Amino acid sequence: MKDAGYDVAVFAGDGTGPEVVREGLKVLRALADGGPSPWHVREYAGGGQYFLARGREWEPEAEAAARSADAVLVGAVGWPGATLPNGDLAGRALVLGLREGLDLYANVRPCKLYPGVTHRISGSDREVWSPKNVDLVIVRENTEDLYTPARGRLRRGGETEVAIDTRVVTRKGTERVVRFAFELARRRARGAPEDGARRVTCVDKSNVLEGCRYFRETFDRLGATEYPEIGRDYAYVDAFTQWLLRSPEHYDVVVAPNMMGDIITDLAAVLQGGMGFASGANVGAEHAMFEPVHGSSPKHAGKNRVNPFATFFAVEQMLRWLAERHADGGLARQADRLEAAIARTLAAGTARTYDQGGTATTSDAGDRVATAIREEPR
Ligand code: IPM
Ligand code: MN
Repeated sequence: MKDAGYDVAVFAGDGTGPEVVREGLKVLRALADGGPSPWHVREYAGGGQYFLARGREWEPEAEAAARSADAVLVGAVGWPGATLPNGDLAGRALVLGLREGLDLYANVRPCKLYPGVTHRISGSDREVWSPKNVDLVIVRENTEDLYTPARGRLRRGGETEVAIDTRVVTRKGTERVVRFAFELARRRARGAPEDGARRVTCVDKSNVLEGCRYFRETFDRLGATEYPEIGRDYAYVDAFTQWLLRSPEHYDVVVAPNMMGDIITDLAAVLQGGMGFASGANVGAEHAMFEPVHGSSPKHAGKNRVNPFATFFAVEQMLRWLAERHADGGLARQADRLEAAIARTLAAGTARTYDQGGTATTSDAGDRVATAIREEPR
């Protein structure tokens, strides 16, 4: 446990980012009520809107602040018309830049359906997507693959124009994320809903791509030698998209290269009630950044309307990561309290925002969860 408390660098970012982050911090404060607060929260400006106003992506001291903080919380980045001179998304520094700069090699996306949450095929007579069947975590490689910043354009503008992205898959990058997935499977309490077995599923396109062949070979080698007690399972990414929707109960931990992981994690979000519930942890050896992954939704911005639960889950992921890193049992206890309060609020159905067919506002949802936290024993 850190005596001095925890420094959290917060980047609310664009669009609805500030609205959901405001509720996330409300919930964090509620957890500290009735006891000493371990939190030192500092907010920094940045993102696409900041870029349009100031000509740079974030405050000059922001990167150093993110590096020295114990954890980073990001709201959302991206704004219409906010593009860097090279065509990249303005605000990328806050997400892709931190992943690269802080070497946050594992993107951890839990996908759990809580009782009281509806999804788009709710009400069907098949019970496949019931809460008891959806409880998996996707671990996405987060620093290389097609996201390697080695790309460009040749013969720009002419008929012979060429656009190039380079797919890089390294031994170091693959081994560390594969180990991360197996370690996570080892720690998970219940295994896959289908049979309670601990398993890691490797999702790739190794029937075609060399990088994927290497990824799967590495998965097999490390799994067999270092994690023989954990089941190994395989899926080509195209087939996986069907299997995930048909039989989510089969999955415990899933590991995938970056680009494919980006796609399947959003697909998986449908199972958990939509992007309004999807949070992600970006984890490295020394640093971590936590985010709701829904983006800035410009059309809803400023309306106090969007679902803040993804941010509550991001805060929960942050508490669990800090608790483990600093062997802080008190913080682990607060993470359990937060999850219990979230689960109780969702089950009661009193904080349903528009995406869930409800009328609660963003701040109503934050108030309900904060109240539920205060009712949970400390
Ligand atoms: C995600 C997002 C990002 C990504 C975007 C915002 C660059 O889609 O975190 O999944 O592509 O990784
Ligand atoms: Mn994505």
